[in-house]
Amino acid sequence: VGSGWAARVFYSDNGSTAIEVALKMAFRKYIADHQLLEEGGSDANSNSGDSSSSSGGSASSSSGGGGGSMPELAVVGLQEGYHGDTLGAMDAVAPSPFNGRLQTPWYTGRGLFLDPPTVALQQGAWRVRLPADMQAAAVAAAAAPAAEVQFGSQAEVFALPQRMAAAAPGGQQQTLYSLYRSHIQQQLEQYSQQQGQRRRLGALILEPVLQGAGGMRLVDPLYQRALVEVCRQVHPSPRRGSAPAAQLQFPTTNASADNAGCPWCCLALPAPCREAGMPVIFDEVFTGFWRLGATSGGALLGVHPDIACCAKLMTGGLVPLAATLAREAVFAAFEGDSKMNALLHGHSYTAHAVGCAAGVAALRLYRDPLINPNWCTPEAPGRCQQQLQQQGGGGGGCGCSAPCGRLLPLWDEAAVAALSWHPRVQGVVPLGTVLAVQLCSEDGAGGYASNAAAAVVRRLRQVGVFGRPLGDVVYLMVTPMTERQQCADLLGKLATALDAPAA
Ligand SMILES: Cc1ncc(COP(=O)(O)O)c(C=O)c1O
Repeated sequence: VGSGWAARVFYSDNGSTAIEVALKMAFRKYIADHQLLEEGGSDANSNSGDSSSSSGGSASSSSGGGGGSMPELAVVGLQEGYHGDTLGAMDAVAPSPFNGRLQTPWYTGRGLFLDPPTVALQQGAWRVRLPADMQAAAVAAAAAPAAEVQFGSQAEVFALPQRMAAAAPGGQQQTLYSLYRSHIQQQLEQYSQQQGQRRRLGALILEPVLQGAGGMRLVDPLYQRALVEVCRQVHPSPRRGSAPAAQLQFPTTNASADNAGCPWCCLALPAPCREAGMPVIFDEVFTGFWRLGATSGGALLGVHPDIACCAKLMTGGLVPLAATLAREAVFAAFEGDSKMNALLHGHSYTAHAVGCAAGVAALRLYRDPLINPNWCTPEAPGRCQQQLQQQGGGGGGCGCSAPCGRLLPLWDEAAVAALSWHPRVQGVVPLGTVLAVQLCSEDGAGGYASNAAAAVVRRLRQVGVFGRPLGDVVYLMVTPMTERQQCADLLGKLATALDAPAA
């Protein structure tokens, strides 16, 4: 999961804590890169030693030595995101049922939360659904031709290099990729103008590819890729004292003096460019360790984060263990002569020995070709493709010709396509070990407030299948080692449960 980029790891014991640590890391990196402390902000708590002297308790209120206040740092995130139930993790997402007044009266929502385009299989076709404001921008810019918002296979949705290189027909229209970039830039600029010096966007945090608790939504990977690129390239306002305050600046889309030599793929982004913008956190608590078929959600985006959080499948879900991975440059932001510079975060159980032992065993199992029938191994290059052919599968394979380290597509493509035509189904997302079905809402309520999936889950339980309702979404989740045949049985039971008259 951290291969090729992460050099350091902070162990803890649950996903929410891994997120808290990630936020601390990202903000420290941002503060160091942008010299916010040197510029007049101060660490009020370490200076005064009296927490009661701060007014209101927010970062923006830090005062004392240095002659100025440090702006409050906020995150860029996505609507329907979820990062856990500790206070910082709840504040790093948009208002949701999980952070409402009844859950936490402390919620303030410290961020700019963008509404992303989503993708689902509907009536046999993979369709991109643009949010309303982006739809309007697309119409105004004559962007997003039909070919770009509908795909024949999941592999096409994830073919990011091809989608990024797509030329606008006739040179008149914007591509979806350029629409995404300009829309994101516009929203960041607007936010920064509204906030002035009070607040800065100090980190990007997202669940790569699949938003879990938010409804198993498949976010268009092209959008997330564009988001990472834009957030990394954004230049903060001219330093305090020079006008105008808090304006964001972006290099132009193509090569310019600012980003010359920066490949779009951020894997090898030169440090000066990377550090101009926000540190990027991938919340892989749900998506990591083959949940989505690849080692991580980030691998599907083709871009490395600066910080990533892992838990859940890291121990096979058996015992609690979490990890926050970081680049060396993030670690370096905590170096210094004083102990106060260190990452002062501690728990009774960090890297608990039993959790670590379970983690080692789980990773062994996932990658043992004799135990995991789904893994495309270095010992058997192209195994997942061969297996697909043997089983008469087609279409949605990963298309590898070398060991790809991914899982065989688990859900039978024809059965999933049939499900996507079901009159009660609005859309289907089969991805790695997850199969999510969004139902047409029969109770008028949408999203998590709906009870549409509850009856289907009850019927599944009667035949020994434990699905989970997320409002109008019902989803099945198997292990990275579950055989394709077993997934076919589950799919059949789900189709039967959907056929039963609505309760
Ligand atoms: C994406 C994501 N982030 C963070 C968390 C929080 O993890 P934990 O429940 O271990 O605190 C979850 C839990 O479901 C999650 O799905």
